[in-house]
Amino acid sequence: MSISILGAGNVGMALAKALTQRGETVIFGVPEPEKYTAAVAALGPLAQVQSNGAAIAASELIILAIPANAVAAVAQSVPDWQGKILVDATNPLAPGLAGLTIGTHTSGAEELAKLAKGARVIKAFNTTGAENMADSHYPHGLPWMPVCGDDAEARQRVLALATQLGFDAVDCGDLQAARYLEPFAMTWIHLALKLGQGRNFAFARLQR
Ligand SMILES: NC(=O)c1ccc[n+]([C@@H]2O[C@H](COP(=O)([O-])OP(=O)(O)OC[C@H]3O[C@@H](n4cnc5c(N)ncnc54)[C@H](OP(=O)(O)O)[C@@H]3O)[C@@H](O)[C@H]2O)c1
Repeated sequence: MSISILGAGNVGMALAKALTQRGETVIFGVPEPEKYTAAVAALGPLAQVQSNGAAIAASELIILAIPANAVAAVAQSVPDWQGKILVDATNPLAPGLAGLTIGTHTSGAEELAKLAKGARVIKAFNTTGAENMADSHYPHGLPWMPVCGDDAEARQRVLALATQLGFDAVDCGDLQAARYLEPFAMTWIHLALKLGQGRNFAFARLQR
């Protein structure tokens, strides 16, 4: 079974690198596939790039790694997602990383779920930097990866995927928790980019 990734930028490439290293087949969907031919070829024979439509059709699990302003059109480009798992790694960032354009009483993921008819939307891979998705290894523990979504089976599938990629995958329950996970992404962005602490850190969970 392949995994499709819409968007071949920082996040898409990072996840594809980690997935192909673990033997998974990745199919990118982008508006202009030829633009990414060389970059995708560099990932090796398990990666390929196609149109959005072909990538969506090819897999049961599709990761959305595109700018927030492209999400609505992609969600509505498919009349019926037919139960496919749509993993929302996006964040509704305001220009200049000034904050989020949506939140508190809803979330980007909840708005996506309203538009992507028939999709099982799961929020994941939005709370840490792309470098951590390409390489989750840290010397003193596993970086955490919170995951939420309304469909329990789909959530388990994405929790397993995050575990496979080396994260401490944390079940955060229903999709409504995306209201907290999207602002949480801003915490990472604030430290890494606004306060200049760099991108080589990740949050972890302690338990007793
Ligand atoms: N960067 C991070 O560390 C990070 C971490 C967590 C979450 N995120 C979130 O993840 C999302 C992607 O971030 P990024 O840094 O990877 O962005 P990016 O480097 O700008 O890459 C965006 C990718 O999406 C493609 N794209 C644009 N419109 C598309 C469409 N309609 N269908 C399919 N592909 C489309 C772009 O293709 P073109 O080149 O042809 O435009 C590009 O390959 C954002 O929502 C961001 O907030 C980012």
